Amino acid sequence: MPATLKGIHEHHERDCCGPKRCQHEIRVRLLDLEATRRPIVPVVAGGLDEGLAAICCENRPMADSRYWQRVYLERTPEEVSWYEEVPRTSLQLIEEAALRLDAAILDVGGGASKLPGHLVTAGYTDVTVADISRAALEQARVELGDAGERVTQIEADVRFHDFARVFELWHDRAVFHFMVDPADRNRYLATLARSLRPGGHLILATFGPNGPTRCSGLPVTRYGSDELLSVLGEDFELISSRLEEHRTPGGRSQEFLYAHLRGKPGLGRTLIEHVETLAV
Ligand SMILES: C[S@@+](CC[C@H](N)C(=O)[O-])C[C@H]1O[C@@H](n2cnc3c(N)ncnc32)[C@H](O)[C@@H]1O
Repeated sequence: MPATLKGIHEHHERDCCGPKRCQHEIRVRLLDLEATRRPIVPVVAGGLDEGLAAICCENRPMADSRYWQRVYLERTPEEVSWYEEVPRTSLQLIEEAALRLDAAILDVGGGASKLPGHLVTAGYTDVTVADISRAALEQARVELGDAGERVTQIEADVRFHDFARVFELWHDRAVFHFMVDPADRNRYLATLARSLRPGGHLILATFGPNGPTRCSGLPVTRYGSDELLSVLGEDFELISSRLEEHRTPGGRSQEFLYAHLRGKPGLGRTLIEHVETLAV
């Protein structure tokens, strides 16, 4: 690691993230990548060190993981507003994708959702859940019981994680809409571009045009299918979209947009180019 990066890295371990789980390390790796080839995400504004320092002081991933950790520690899975006893629409859309049972399926920001358990019961053998909150994954594991052995859980921030493999289907219910900062949205899309097989399926559920403006106390972006397509670029073909009313455990109604898309061939490269044109 270059000396300047090492210095900032040490600063982080000492003053910022703590030695055990230095979120910064993930970014250092991203920036190392940038030093060796074309940027994946333009995270650096004015040179490596300045960019790194700016990111360092924000320390957003750590704050976000603490936030979500608290959400799940303070509430049971059944109490959160996004709770679904049976994630019917997600299951239906995944079924419509007509995948082989050994296809790699990723539920991004899956939290303590029951979706993975239903997928395992349906016979899918390669199911992964990634979430920024360890507490959420622990709740999910308890809920899964024996089926938990057949689900891979990853504690990860989707904006920075390298899954080091590709998936046939990427499912996200109520995570992408939190990416209100264009830089975060671009990071999310860069991970998507690296991790979804060209031709793979993307199922995105966000708050719809008439949905709430906040979720779990955080601002969200609401999408119609046209807005979603314009953010994703031209490399996705829309298979279907629908608006659904979700009834929260507290009895409120929330409009969701469910979109099922398919990545076109060449997805990874062209989506990265598209992300760069959106970059701030
Ligand atoms: C509104 S909940 C939805 C949970 C689940 N998808 C469902 O439908 O039940 C949002 C989830 O996204 C997770 N999350 C938020 N930001 C994330 C990030 N940057 N990377 C990974 N997970 C994230 C939260 O911990 C939480 O579990």
